[in-house]
Amino acid sequence: MDTQNNHFDQAAQDWDKKQMRVQLAHAISQAIGTLPLNREMKALEYGCGTGLVGLPLAPRLAHLTAADTSEGMLKTLQEKIKREQISNVTPIHLDLSQETCADRFDLIFCSMTLHHIEHNQLVLQRFVEMLRPGGLLAVADLETEDGSFHSSEVQGVKHHGFDSHQLIHLVTSSGLQKAQTREVHQIIKKDKAGNSRTFPIFLLTGEKRPEDSEKI
Ligand SMILES: C[S@@+](CC[C@H](N)C(=O)[O-])C[C@H]1O[C@@H](n2cnc3c(N)ncnc32)[C@H](O)[C@@H]1O
Repeated sequence: MDTQNNHFDQAAQDWDKKQMRVQLAHAISQAIGTLPLNREMKALEYGCGTGLVGLPLAPRLAHLTAADTSEGMLKTLQEKIKREQISNVTPIHLDLSQETCADRFDLIFCSMTLHHIEHNQLVLQRFVEMLRPGGLLAVADLETEDGSFHSSEVQGVKHHGFDSHQLIHLVTSSGLQKAQTREVHQIIKKDKAGNSRTFPIFLLTGEKRPEDSEKI
């Protein structure tokens, strides 16, 4: 087991006890909820954790596949699904930096996971590939920061946030249209000197181009 999965496996059971995380997930879930969702949609959440973002959206979708690489996170999510008798969410183990997935989706969303993935460009390209034409992508993460967001015990931080405008170019060149980014939340933390630090969270959204759009 690699150190990153180990970190998330161990954190899983108490993951929902941290208020800052719950507030952040709530804000991201609400922002994704402003997209035109409907009960016909087949969705994928990538890096689902305990389902803080995805479970509130599931009643507005036909089905949600909730993917993660941490067995601990998937187990905690499975327990919630059972306890709350949720019938349209399926947790799966999936690592798109190592494997592809043949399924196709109307909506793919990903919250606070991209900065844990070394080959994030490959994963973003795979998201676009896995969308049906007209399907929606929503990715939330930290704007570029100086490395002070995570405490030293958090393992597997591969990027100190992203320039979300650069990500727009990347997803557009991979086949997305109408890509845009907006700030959906701010996390405020105190540094060692007691000064407040603000970390903006962006939501990047876009729509997969119709298959024949290049020919027009
Ligand atoms: C910071 S947590 C965010 C959890 C959840 N999306 C939320 O916003 O509450 C990051 C999640 O990404 C998962 N993760 C890390 N690397 C991954 C990868 N390569 N593929 C899929 N999930 C990954 C972790 O196991 C963890 O559940």
